[in-house]
Amino acid sequence: MTRLIILSLIFLTLNSCSKKTEKNLEEKTFPKKEWWKEAVVYQIYPRSFKDTDGDGVGDLKGIISKLEYIKSLGIDVVWLNPIYGSPNADNGYDISDYQSIMKEFGTMEDFDALLKGMHEKGLKLVMDLVVNHSSDEHKWFQESKKSRDNPYRDYYHWWPAEKGKPAFRPGAFEVDGSGWRYDKTTNAYYLHYFSYKQPDLNWENPKVRQEIYKMMNWWFKKGIDGFRMDVIPFIAKDTTFPVITQEELNKNYEGRWDVYMASGPHLHDYLHEMNKEVLSKYDVMSLAEGAGMLKSTALNFVDEDREELNMGYHFDGVNLGYVPGYFKKMNPNWSLVEFKKIYSDWDAVYKTKGWGTIYLGNHDQPRMVTRWGNDVPEFREYSSKMLTTFLLSMKGTPYYYYGDEIGMTNAKFDKIEDYRDIETIAEYEKIKTTGGDLNQFIEDQKSGGARDNGRTPMQWNASNNANFTAGEPWLSVNKNHADINVEIQDKDPNSILNYFRKMVKLRKENDVLIYGAYQLLDEANNETYTFTRTLNGRKVLVLLNFTEHDSKVVLPEISKIPEVLINNYETADITENTITLQPYQAILFKLN
Ligand code: NOJ
Repeated sequence: MTRLIILSLIFLTLNSCSKKTEKNLEEKTFPKKEWWKEAVVYQIYPRSFKDTDGDGVGDLKGIISKLEYIKSLGIDVVWLNPIYGSPNADNGYDISDYQSIMKEFGTMEDFDALLKGMHEKGLKLVMDLVVNHSSDEHKWFQESKKSRDNPYRDYYHWWPAEKGKPAFRPGAFEVDGSGWRYDKTTNAYYLHYFSYKQPDLNWENPKVRQEIYKMMNWWFKKGIDGFRMDVIPFIAKDTTFPVITQEELNKNYEGRWDVYMASGPHLHDYLHEMNKEVLSKYDVMSLAEGAGMLKSTALNFVDEDREELNMGYHFDGVNLGYVPGYFKKMNPNWSLVEFKKIYSDWDAVYKTKGWGTIYLGNHDQPRMVTRWGNDVPEFREYSSKMLTTFLLSMKGTPYYYYGDEIGMTNAKFDKIEDYRDIETIAEYEKIKTTGGDLNQFIEDQKSGGARDNGRTPMQWNASNNANFTAGEPWLSVNKNHADINVEIQDKDPNSILNYFRKMVKLRKENDVLIYGAYQLLDEANNETYTFTRTLNGRKVLVLLNFTEHDSKVVLPEISKIPEVLINNYETADITENTITLQPYQAILFKLN
């Protein structure tokens, strides 16, 4: 056995680039310090976190009851998915009243208590801002559809039917795929980029913009600390609604509808205006959900000099590895080389300006351990910890999804009746209409991207329904909650949960992990992800094995014994200048 337990030898310098080049790199990459760059964000899907009134739906009182736990994670900011009045066609992304609390979630008093409780604990609260569309049950839409001369008519996009059918626009959650719906009261079609229950607001109307700014100011005056802005690049459209040909899409929008939909005229006028009228007045953070955002356009949103938003999140990472032509079917042999290229290229976008984010899971994604790690019992813990290491050692504000801190896995439902998500159900219906293989669809979603995979209730303990609710949960609790839950992991110093806490602490104590320049070291290696972070002469080396077997990494020069900052195994196996990473091993070395 040639294995040597580390700390006896090594270390690489990786100082192969001259000191001068390194200095230049640092000077160029050192960004202005901001609290929201240093924060770790914990995302809570309120419907699934903790139910206190037994209706099977999580609520604000439930979150309040878990504030101690949330604080114990060491995170700084909580982002809540929408909690406003909503008929719940899309779980709150269809808002019928922006200044009220969804009945199932509680009352405005509960909200005030939650905000107070969080602030007392030094936690910040970020809300979801959904203003590309409202619910069709919002009073604006109810008025808008009454008559063509209603004062609210221009709050939405209408196309008079006498002009014929409008040019195709996609409607994400519709079985026929159309983003237009005919309404006979006024003999007109209205636009909805998502379901027909989510009509798109008309941002060209200054009254709409003023209503939204007023509402945002109202929440900020209450004391919230920021907004995550749902599909914000979609707000601006070409409202002449021209026919878009495939050739045009290919030529100007990378062949992608989402890019076309996100590229409307005046987009940046609106965001700049929002910044002036709202955001600039408070010390808050703003995050663009960057649907359709490209590397070439990202800085238009977050370059500080433009005074728009703080940071955005791209989809290139999470879109990797799906099988083309299928609905979110995962290719298990996705390429780590491509994965690294995506994250490295995005890091380069923010080298001298703006700021990025990093995430692997959220309410629209499968569980990160199922998708990017390995959720079989042998590797679930190691790979969860490895992915946590990745998230918390990259540059960009990390967004960490509830449940990932205990390694929750995909729900892997066996039948369509178990699903609640509007998107998955619509996709199933599409396949039914076209005579496709429904069983295969259900099978594919077990490891794939059906959104309910990541929305199952939080697993608090091994008891019935994981102690999420005393009633019938709105979405089934994952059967594995007897083994995977907070109670067990809280007590175990080596658990995924406690590893997450350690990793958060480590990031906070080492600002090189926050502001340090990133450099990829093993571009062509399809098994490991190795990179450094460098700041003011300090350097951290991150080594991650993304496979279920040992994988060797040749380390460049060795000069001194390095300090291990964290390791998800007991040992590190180093022989001369080679380290053999065990399956899903993650190690951070402090080099300088
Ligand atoms: C993006 C949100 O994350 C998703 O959950 C929602 O369905 C759509 N936007 C529409 O609001």
